[in-house]
Amino acid sequence: MAGTRWRVGGWLLTAAMLTAAANGTPTADQEHAAMMRQLGITALRPGASGDPEAPNAANYDPAKANPYPVWPDLLTMADGRRVTTPDMWRRERRPELVALFEREIYGRVPADVPAVAWRVESADREFIAGRPVVAQQLVGHVDSRAAPQIPVDIRATLVLPAGARGPVPVLIMFAPARYPVPSLPDAREAERLDAAMKAALLQRDPSLATIFAAHPGFAFVEPSGFPPAPPRDERVARLVADGWGVALLDTATIQADDGAGLRAGIIGLANRGRARTPEQWGALRAWGWGASRLLDYLATRSEVDAAHVGIEGVSRWGKAALVAAAFDERFAMVLIGSSGEGGVKPHRRNFGEQVENLAGAGSHHWMAGNFLKYAAETGRFGRKTAADMPVEAHEMLALVAPRLAFVSYGVPEAGDALWLDQQGSYMATVAAGRAWTLLGAHDLGRGNDYRAALLPPVGTALLDGELAWRQHDGGHTDGPNMPYFLRWADAKIGHRPPR
Ligand code: GCU
Repeated sequence: MAGTRWRVGGWLLTAAMLTAAANGTPTADQEHAAMMRQLGITALRPGASGDPEAPNAANYDPAKANPYPVWPDLLTMADGRRVTTPDMWRRERRPELVALFEREIYGRVPADVPAVAWRVESADREFIAGRPVVAQQLVGHVDSRAAPQIPVDIRATLVLPAGARGPVPVLIMFAPARYPVPSLPDAREAERLDAAMKAALLQRDPSLATIFAAHPGFAFVEPSGFPPAPPRDERVARLVADGWGVALLDTATIQADDGAGLRAGIIGLANRGRARTPEQWGALRAWGWGASRLLDYLATRSEVDAAHVGIEGVSRWGKAALVAAAFDERFAMVLIGSSGEGGVKPHRRNFGEQVENLAGAGSHHWMAGNFLKYAAETGRFGRKTAADMPVEAHEMLALVAPRLAFVSYGVPEAGDALWLDQQGSYMATVAAGRAWTLLGAHDLGRGNDYRAALLPPVGTALLDGELAWRQHDGGHTDGPNMPYFLRWADAKIGHRPPR
């Protein structure tokens, strides 16, 4: 049964974790302290607390939310020149912003990251939303000859409609890489497996015979049923029903979501196990890099419409989806779910999560080391705050222009915490719109006065432009927005769902 597979997966994970602990690699706290030393920081401010009773409780008073109301101007170069043409954006402003976000916020990808070789490890025929699909487990083996003690094998599950008439758009989702609806043994296979299981158990413990005899209808292995089980992720079913392919990309196999993992994964391998320098990539950038390598592979598959591959994620993966699409212009679209601080939320807003939170030991691995500077209270270069950042979140989103970007949130009442700052993220989306219009595309159609922008009522679908916004009435997920995303993306790329 499927359950066995998951138990096996769990065992492997445990073994890998034990190995890491046994190697004596630095803990997240040690990595964090070492990065502070590299930067000459002697004290960081603590992050805002989610506990409303705490002395440093996060602010949720809108009147206090904008201590730095004026953000860096999207269309003004660092040297003060105005960006007035698409050409100037492409040749000068975009590269300038890319360089700043790399150096200060998310980190640079080292020049000599080893190559990835993809293979299909196994394949499964499944039914999703009543449609036949071919699902494949992919393994992207990273060349680790430079540091053989640091293996990196990226795992992804590719789901493609069987018998599509032509290449299909594909959404890469940051999600566990596993078969969506694993096919189950048929009645004969199930019977054989069950008999073998019982025989093996009886050999171990003959007294079990009385239990088996008391429950003659009990089986360890049940045959496949009808109707087939629903997919583990309803969003996958939506995409398949709409004629899209899906690739589930397992970020943990690219880079651990843990500061204690920085000497391993792709970051550790590229550094041959040494510590990061302040300008090097954090996990968000590494996950984005992994998505780009998967896109390399998808482009070699004839079933995939490589010009229409998108990237999706929620929460920390929403941040990573933004990072992937911002830096790699081959992504045709991005669905950014509940990304919060480090995503679409403005760093300069004092509402919910703060720069100081991401600069702490629990999250700093997401970011470049240099990001810590903006939470420094004392140190070599003195005190810095979010207001000292040379860039702001709306400029990160603007790097996706003129491509398709859908910013998604849910509501706090259903579990999409106010911590994520939906209002501020809307302001950033409004502010980013100028890049779309400059490049001849369309923004939200609500102007660009971010200081006056007010979150539209829940459920308002601003889907006319290439930049889109919708806050759904669900929780910390982008599931309820998936039908809206598909309707919008299909219209923009001219994709017709199969009948
Ligand atoms: C925490 C963190 C957020 C993050 C979220 C998640 O809430 O503060 O920045 O987005 O976890 O990824 O689940």
